[in-house]
Amino acid sequence: MSQVHPIDHPLIASKLTAMRRCDTSSAEFRRLLREITVLLGYEATRDLPVRLEPVATPMATAELPVLQDDPLVIVPILRAGMGMVDGMLDLLPMAQVGHIGLARDEATHLPQEYYCKLPFGVQGAQVIVVDPMLATGGSAIDAVASLKARGCQRIRMVNLLAAPEGLEAFGTAHPDVEVFVAAIDQGLDENAYILPGLGDAGDRIFGTC
Ligand code: PRP
Ligand code: URA
Repeated sequence: MSQVHPIDHPLIASKLTAMRRCDTSSAEFRRLLREITVLLGYEATRDLPVRLEPVATPMATAELPVLQDDPLVIVPILRAGMGMVDGMLDLLPMAQVGHIGLARDEATHLPQEYYCKLPFGVQGAQVIVVDPMLATGGSAIDAVASLKARGCQRIRMVNLLAAPEGLEAFGTAHPDVEVFVAAIDQGLDENAYILPGLGDAGDRIFGTC
């Protein structure tokens, strides 16, 4: 089972409640998703390595921490993961961005990969996969398997909402990958949508509902 980190914070919780409301516009939904992603990303990067270097302040010179030059790659799962890229880049402007396109088949709920483009050297990078929804876990499982098949070894996931059964399946498939999530909901409906959830994240971000 992977390590799951539910990020329990009143700012995240109240912004997420606003996202869940049926009458929240796409513009507001995108803005809130970006803000929550910054807060989740802050926790997901808590153990990034730093080194000390001499820095001259106006008062003195001191050995002070700076981030190590460890390559970082953000990988959104298309489409909905795109809604989390800007929030991650607000925190990590030096990061590169790769893309994996997966769409769930509406009848089987199984994901199909239709696109993959990753930066050169991704194998050595700390990879952060972003997707607002982890429902059955199928998309996250396949995305991480696809990254591992391409040589990535240091991978973590950042999600907005997850279902317990999806987290269980993901943890069984990828026990080495830590998951950072804003909320773990009750479960899935008969169409494998998260309850109470927020609906179809891609549709809500891009206004396609
Ligand atoms: C959504 C979501 C996840 C996936 C989660 O994407 O963004 O990628 O479903 O479901 P799962 O855990 O059961 O696989 P969707 O396939 O609807 O594609 P979209 O982002 O293009 O709307
Ligand atoms: N994908 C979504 O966008 N929402 C869900 O509830 C489940 C999968």
